[in-house]
Amino acid sequence: MGHFMITLNINGEEKSVAVAPDTPLLWVLRDTLQLTGTKYGCGMSLCGACTVHMDGQAVRSCSTPVSAAAGAKVITIEGVGEGVTGKAVQQAWQGLDVVQCGYCQSGQIMSAVALLDGNRTPTDADIDQAMGGNLCRCATYVRIRAAIHDAARSLA
Ligand code: FES
Ligand code: FES
Repeated sequence: MGHFMITLNINGEEKSVAVAPDTPLLWVLRDTLQLTGTKYGCGMSLCGACTVHMDGQAVRSCSTPVSAAAGAKVITIEGVGEGVTGKAVQQAWQGLDVVQCGYCQSGQIMSAVALLDGNRTPTDADIDQAMGGNLCRCATYVRIRAAIHDAARSLA
């Protein structure tokens, strides 16, 4: 497939990229725009490492064609801390020292922020449901859940 100019809105900035429209958004973020905070894990929507927001929804950028992101507001881990929820989540993550190897964590944070933006008082069941697609090989799940509750309290 040929390359087309596609205009994206990434972390509030317009970026024009010349790529094939079926290129996964993840590769455009990482390789074209050098936003390498978003990670590649499985490439098949199975791990959540590549999670970003499109118009506030958590999506797997490995399985989202860049053409689908045209016209949407895309937020990545590099920009999420600019928002009130993202800031609260990052502070809670630091406060509880959630991170181990770190590989899964930008995806975890993006999913947690999307959850809290839709639900300021999530229960454990809500958290399990929203976060179930974000795998962590270091098994930081208990601290992730506690940090989401902490962030919810700080946002209340
Ligand atoms: S890399 Fe996208 S879900 Fe695993
Ligand atoms: S912190 Fe290592 S994979 Fe989650």
